[in-house]
Amino acid sequence: MLPVPHTAIIVVAAGSGTRLDAGAPKAFVGIDTHSILRHALDGVFAAAPAQVIVVAPAGFEGDAEAELRAAAGDRVELGRVVTGGDTRQSSVAAGLAALWGDVRTVLVHDAARALTAPATIDAVAAAVDEQTGVIPTLPVIDTLKKIDGDDIVGPVDRSELAAAMTPQGFPRALLEDAYATALASGVEYTDDAALFAAAGHPVRRIDGSPRGFKITTPADLERARHLLATAPGSTAEPRPSAAALSASSPSTSLPRVGLGTDVHAFGGEGTLWLAGLEWPGEQPLSGHSDGDAVAHAIVDALLGAAGLGDIGEHFGTAHTEYAGAHADVFLARTREILAEAGFAIGNVSVQFQGNRPRFSARRAEAQQALSTALGGAAVSVTATTTDGLGFAGRGEGIAVTAVALVVPA
Ligand code: CTP
Ligand code: MG
Repeated sequence: MLPVPHTAIIVVAAGSGTRLDAGAPKAFVGIDTHSILRHALDGVFAAAPAQVIVVAPAGFEGDAEAELRAAAGDRVELGRVVTGGDTRQSSVAAGLAALWGDVRTVLVHDAARALTAPATIDAVAAAVDEQTGVIPTLPVIDTLKKIDGDDIVGPVDRSELAAAMTPQGFPRALLEDAYATALASGVEYTDDAALFAAAGHPVRRIDGSPRGFKITTPADLERARHLLATAPGSTAEPRPSAAALSASSPSTSLPRVGLGTDVHAFGGEGTLWLAGLEWPGEQPLSGHSDGDAVAHAIVDALLGAAGLGDIGEHFGTAHTEYAGAHADVFLARTREILAEAGFAIGNVSVQFQGNRPRFSARRAEAQQALSTALGGAAVSVTATTTDGLGFAGRGEGIAVTAVALVVPA
């Protein structure tokens, strides 16, 4: 017999996954050879021993049991499966009803946050005390606006805001009382922290990790797949990751360079987008997204430097969410992909070959836009004509070459 733990983790997995729309309840959708639920439970069982209650969709209790057994190993007696409800709140309530008597701290965790690190789970559990709830948060990155219909009515100071994640931890007795109150009032809260705070209890935050993101849309599932495919010890198809390569080579901390080129023909509708800027009056380039060959060459140079594939793999036509996207979206996401694999961006140098547009007047502006999208990394842009030679010289299109330096962070 294992000692009875004082912590329980309720893993809510009873949602249908409407937004993922993958033909099965979300928890049972595969990331690689393993489901979202299995990955979530692997993280949970790698954390300090706790009672583990999996809340499954009605009719999927047997499947959840199988995933629980596979993940639990010799801790299988700590786990059980219960049936969830129509709302997340009712699913958590079903989990609470299954707590063992000795449990004093309860963590509620979304199965959909499948790649949450065990260290985050342990940190939340350790920070809970007899009065206080604890949630992991991430800083808000986007610039936020208050809106009224289509009108921007004011700024929002994002330093006052944080994005809430799970697991959220609470002292058991107060959480049970807060749930009883919520049930009696019929109010649905957006998360357990809101429900706990509504009952008058304090909630504090600790730093979450980007790996704890919630798989909600097909793009999120892609992100999880990518992270697993590039992680050491990956269960996905074997592709040596940048992290694995640098860990096993003597050049661990050496910077790495990458090269990217892109060519686009002039054509298509609308205005030209190049180097993250709109160029009114200039002929547009054709291509998936906005045809911004400068941004695309930079993306390939960065991914190439880190050994993380190429632009087609991450942003190609299969990724319909990027259709029509501009440079800031591609570059910010590329920076995120590199950061997740442990790389910081040193600098980027990019050269544009073509007759138009004339770059010199807007060079500083372009460098600033690209640098901002890359989180402040130095970007230099140079431009040249080709003396009338080749497709660029004939004015049929442009060619761009980028070189990037990345540093294992
Ligand atoms: N959840 C649950 N019971 C519900 C609804 C949600 O246990 N009735 C769980 C989900 O399984 C998920 C977590 O709560 O792990 C967060 O919910 P969300 O990401 O919204 O998942 P779904 O509700 O499944 O997705 P969607 O809203 O797109 O249908
Ligand atoms: Mg939902």
